[in-house]
Amino acid sequence: MNKLRTGIPGLDDLLGGGIPAGSTTLLSGRSGSGKTIFGMQYLYNGASQHDEPGILVTLEARPNDLRAEALQFGWNLSDLEKSGKLTIIDAASSKAGLPTSEKFALKRGFDMEALAETIYNAIEETKAKRLVLDSISGLTLRFSEPSEVRRELYRISALLNELNITSLFIGEIDDSSTQSRAGVEQFIAQGLITLNLRENDGGLDRDLLIWKMRLTSHSMKKHPYVIDDKGIQVKKTQTKKKNS
Ligand SMILES: Nc1ncnc2c1ncn2[C@@H]1O[C@H](COP(=O)(O)OP(=O)(O)OP(=O)(O)O)[C@@H](O)[C@H]1O
Ligand SMILES: [Mg+2]
Repeated sequence: MNKLRTGIPGLDDLLGGGIPAGSTTLLSGRSGSGKTIFGMQYLYNGASQHDEPGILVTLEARPNDLRAEALQFGWNLSDLEKSGKLTIIDAASSKAGLPTSEKFALKRGFDMEALAETIYNAIEETKAKRLVLDSISGLTLRFSEPSEVRRELYRISALLNELNITSLFIGEIDDSSTQSRAGVEQFIAQGLITLNLRENDGGLDRDLLIWKMRLTSHSMKKHPYVIDDKGIQVKKTQTKKKNS
C-alpha cells in the first residue's frame, strides 16, 4: 500500500511508514500543542522532498501569518507557492470580514458549498496529493447537532478520499474531551492522532499518541515530542531495562 511520509523526524516509523494514501486523519490537540506546525511540516516536506503538491485550507489564521510562522522553521512557503507545489486557500479573511488578495479564497462570508468548490478547483489545478484543513472547529462550530457536524465533515472527507488526497483535519480539544470536540469527528476519519500537553512538575510536557490508522499496525504508546527551530520532532520512548 502506498504511504505518504510525513517527514516529521521519528514519526513515520511509528506509523509503519507513513499515512495511507487517500485517507483522512484527524489531528487533535489543545491550543498551543503544535497542530498548525505539524500540518505545515507535513505539507512542506511533501512538496519539497517528495514532489507531492499540497493544499493548506486556513479557516482561522490569515495566510501571511502562516507564511511568517513557517519561515521561523526555515520553511519558505512562498517559494513553494510560486512553483505550484503549495496552495493556500484563504477561508479566514472573509469570515473576519477582511479583504483578501489571495488567488484561492472565499470571497464573502462563508459557506460549505463554496469551500468544497474552491478545494475541488485547487486540487484540479495543482494536482495536489496532500491537504490540511486548519481547523475543522472553524466549520463545526457552525452546527449545533453532532449529527450535522458528522454529515458535513463526511461530505468533505468523502470528496477528498475519492480524489485520492491524503488529508489531515485539525481539531481543537479542551480538557473535557480526549479525542475531539463534538465527539464525532474521529468517526469520519480513518486515522486519529492526538497531541497532548500535560502538566508535569509545574511545567508542561508534550506527547503524541496514534489511536488508529487504516490498514496498518502502528505504535500504541505515548511518545514525547518537542518543538524547536526545525519544527516538530518525535522522541524515542525510554524503555525500562529489565532488573533495573
Ligand atoms: N520557534 C519555535 N521554537 C519552539 N517552539 C515553538 C516555536 N514556535 C512555536 N513554538 C511552540 O508551538 C506552539 C504553537 O504551535 P501551533 O501554533 O502549531 O499550535 P496549535 O496547536 O495550532 O494551537 P491553536 O489550537 O491555538 O491554533 C507555541 O505555543 C510554542 O509552544
Ligand atoms: Mg493552530
